[in-house]
Amino acid sequence: MIKIDGKETARQIRQEIAAEVKDMIAQGRKQPHLAAILVGHDGGSETYVANKIKACEECGFKSSLLRFEDNISEAQLLDTVAKLNADPDVDGFIVQLPLPAHISEEKVTRAIAPTKDVDGFHPQNVGLMSIGEPAFISATPQGIIELIRRYNIPTAGKHAVVIGRSNIVGRPMSILLSQKGVDCTVTLCHSRTPNIAEICRQADIIVAAIGKPGFVTADMVSPGATVIDVGTTRVADPTAARGWRLRGDVDFESVAPKCDFITPVPGGVGPMTICSLMQNTLKAAKLNN
Ligand code: GUN
Repeated sequence: MIKIDGKETARQIRQEIAAEVKDMIAQGRKQPHLAAILVGHDGGSETYVANKIKACEECGFKSSLLRFEDNISEAQLLDTVAKLNADPDVDGFIVQLPLPAHISEEKVTRAIAPTKDVDGFHPQNVGLMSIGEPAFISATPQGIIELIRRYNIPTAGKHAVVIGRSNIVGRPMSILLSQKGVDCTVTLCHSRTPNIAEICRQADIIVAAIGKPGFVTADMVSPGATVIDVGTTRVADPTAARGWRLRGDVDFESVAPKCDFITPVPGGVGPMTICSLMQNTLKAAKLNN
């Protein structure tokens, strides 16, 4: 069993990006610039955005954080998006989700210029990705493909089972795994799928992205499978300093001994997600200049 080290892989990629940025700057080109909009004080969002800003520093990017209180109106937020769209110094930006209930995430996502949409959430990027054309790709599925590549995990003709059909992870993951060059046969399972356990037992690769801690158990996994865990649920843990710990969608202890490859939580997919955002920002900087 090989425990996939997302943290170390992400560190290597950040180093590769930093080297490229150094070259760009030596050639007199502009420093790549990522901006992030954060609304409110959601604990998870605060952590994600802080980690994104830290990754920017490591990659040699400029970063800007635009913070707003929960009571910002949708019109004010859309106005901020329009300003970032028009700012030639900003190569790419993200609006951290979730947003307060009075703001339409759909409207805000669609207002972002597709050429600056480094999250890959705009329907134009989703559409281009679906037909295999160059696009900004949602960070988590892109990070998973990168891990699969860097660990030389065989994919051609393999049966991949994706659990979860979210727009951010499950659905784009199922499309990327079926694309030419990756060549998996893909089954996408969701909350209305009967016999998920039976389908998982037929999988060479399982990607669990449903947000149910410990959902994938040993009886659902065939010997030699690759298991990728996207879950990051905060569960109460009185022994932890913060009072909680992250738990994945996979029951790691029982599943790991059966696998050829498995990602842990934390330290698996999570660090790769932020790395993909950095890769997308570098790509935007190259495209926009
Ligand atoms: N909230 C949870 N994941 C993400 C992400 O990848 N991007 C943004 N913008 N918000 C998120």
